[in-house]
Parts: sequence; structure tokens; C-alpha cells
Amino acid sequence: MITVIETVKEMQNISSKLIKSGETIGYVPTMGYLHEGHLTLIKKARKENSKVIISIFVNPLQFGPNEDYETYPRNFARDKKLASEAGVDYIFYPSVQEMYPTEMTTNLTVTKRTDVLCGKNRIGHFDGVATVLLKLFSIIRPNRVYFGLKDAQQVAVVDGLIQDFNLPIELCPVETVREEDGLAKSSRNVYLTMAEREEAPHLYKSLQEGVRLIESGKRNPEVVIAAINKYLKSNISGEVEYVEIHSFPSLLPLRQLEGKIIIALAVKYSKARLIDNIILNVT
Ligand code: PAF
Repeated sequence: MITVIETVKEMQNISSKLIKSGETIGYVPTMGYLHEGHLTLIKKARKENSKVIISIFVNPLQFGPNEDYETYPRNFARDKKLASEAGVDYIFYPSVQEMYPTEMTTNLTVTKRTDVLCGKNRIGHFDGVATVLLKLFSIIRPNRVYFGLKDAQQVAVVDGLIQDFNLPIELCPVETVREEDGLAKSSRNVYLTMAEREEAPHLYKSLQEGVRLIESGKRNPEVVIAAINKYLKSNISGEVEYVEIHSFPSLLPLRQLEGKIIIALAVKYSKARLIDNIILNVT
């Protein structure tokens, strides 16, 4: 039976008991409105831990003034049902008042890994993500935490957070779940028109084209980026916001492609903005 916990105190007590009795805690942080991506993370957590906790908290700190905090989709009854069916043991479901009872006296500022990809247009977003996650990690004290690689920049930021503060948590990044035609699954895909949906698999195909070039020996990132842009221009109508290649997870610029790298892109359609990436090892 799934248990819903609404207070920090109760969550801390339950986590303490679980830890004392030798359970391992797999934790999936979410903002609710669960979709297949979350369920994949929960499934992985279920396999690798004796207890699974998810949190559902729409964190105001990570929304910019013109972003959709108020209208962010919320449906707790549906989330509870899905979480229960997926085998979650506890849902931590605090209110904003419970998480931020007084104005914070300390906020984190993420100083690396945020000036590229989506981070460069979302000033302060990852500061809010890091601040809430540090709170959630210290309340829940999980052994393992699960994040989807679709938002690879978030994974990179959490990796930095865990290292910087020596948090005794194993970061478990989980591969992006895709439709049969390769399109990365996202709740935003429903906002695509039929024509946009038809061409959207080309986003992943363009990334694969990049990988193919690297595998054929290309090592200049500019050459690979140009080829991906050219592919996109000939195959999609959406507006390409960026195509970038960086080291991963440090997200530093590269003159020469080697080591673990990320090729990532964002494309704007009429009512949806899609992101995708491939992470690979270049030897
Ligand atoms: O990815 C999300 O849903 C949020 O950024 C997270 C990790 C739950 C922090 O609020």
C-alpha cells in the first residue's frame, strides 16, 4: 500500500526508520503529472532498491517570472494511482508552505554547467533545481536517485551538486525513452501538429547523423554541428534553437571531439519546444 506523506518531519522520521532497518531507498524526484518517463525511472528504482520514494512538488524557485508555475499541470489523484501501480512505497507530497515556511536564508547558485544548452536562456532555473534537491536529499536521505537523460543538463548539474557537497547518494541517469520512430517521449509531443509530429523523428536522426560522422573519423565539433544543422534544415520546418556539442557531464566546450561528449539540440515548433541529445564516448 502506498503512503502519502505531507510533512517534512514525518518524511524524515520514516526515512530514519527505513535506514535503521537496513532498507535501501531509491528516490525519484518529480513535479508530478507523471508520464512514461517517470514510470521508467520508478521501474528502475524498484528493481535496484528495497524501498521506492517519489516526491511530487512543483518547485516555485525554479520557474522564471514569465514561466508557467501557476499553470503547470497538476493531478495528484492520477499521480497517486500511477505511482501505486508502479510499486512506489511512499509519495512525499509537501505544500510550498511546508517546504519554504520562511524566506530562505541560503540559496544555491550553480556556477558551472549552466551557461550552455537550455540553461543559457533560463537564468536562475538550475539554482532553484539545486536548492530544492539539496533540501529533498537531506529530508529523504536516499541511497540512489534517478533522473532521465532526456534532461541531460539537469543530470550534469545534479552530478556537480552531489560531488560538491559530498552527498552519499548514487546518481543513476536513465536512458531516454523513445517512440518506435525514435522521437524522444515527452508530454509536450501532444502539442505537435500532425505535420510536425511526422517530421519530428528527424531530430533524433540528425543526432544519429552526427554520431555517424564522428564514428567515421570526424573530430572537429564545428564540422559535426554544421552537418546536423544542414540535415535539420532539409528535413524539418521547426526553428532550430541550438545544436551544441560539449564534454559530459562537465559541459565544457571542445576543440577536438574526445572522451565522453553530448550532442544536444532544441527545436521550437508552433506550440512545443522539443529537446533531445545523444551521449557517447569518443576514443
Ligand atoms: O525534473 C524535474 O521534474 C524537476 O526539475 C525536479 C528534479 C523534480 C526538481 O524540482
